[in-house]
Amino acid sequence: MDGVTRIGVSLEPELLREFDESISKKGYVSRSEAIRDLVRDSLAENEWKNDEEWMVGTIVMVYDHTMTSVGDKLTDIQHAHTDMVKTSVHIHLDHEKCMEILICEGKLGDMKSFANEVTSIKGVLRGRLTMAAPSTGNLHHIGHRH
Ligand code: NI
Repeated sequence: MDGVTRIGVSLEPELLREFDESISKKGYVSRSEAIRDLVRDSLAENEWKNDEEWMVGTIVMVYDHTMTSVGDKLTDIQHAHTDMVKTSVHIHLDHEKCMEILICEGKLGDMKSFANEVTSIKGVLRGRLTMAAPSTGNLHHIGHRH
């Protein structure tokens, strides 16, 4: 690769062992590639400081649909934020668990509080907001479909 600078990183043996384990589970073939991705993620996260900025992002969650009213609450909360939730994908994982991915666009601060509301619903087992990029307006034409 042209223009690449090699750097040396010192790590304690235990930390390096955990790192190697974790990256091999993720399928990385080299430490360098894993570290490059970590640096990119970290830099991207640092950009998510301005709550007024328009962003596109996703909320990925796993929930237990057998728990009383969790499905209704998730539907209600999405209907209350149709401006933000551009589309969603739902996958039935097994007898109890569902995964749902919400593709969102809006002010960063609004998305953070929306994600908190969603993930604090009882029955939502995991939930994670990830910012993809600043909004380019390309999601505006995508309608929310339910
Ligand atoms: Ni389901």
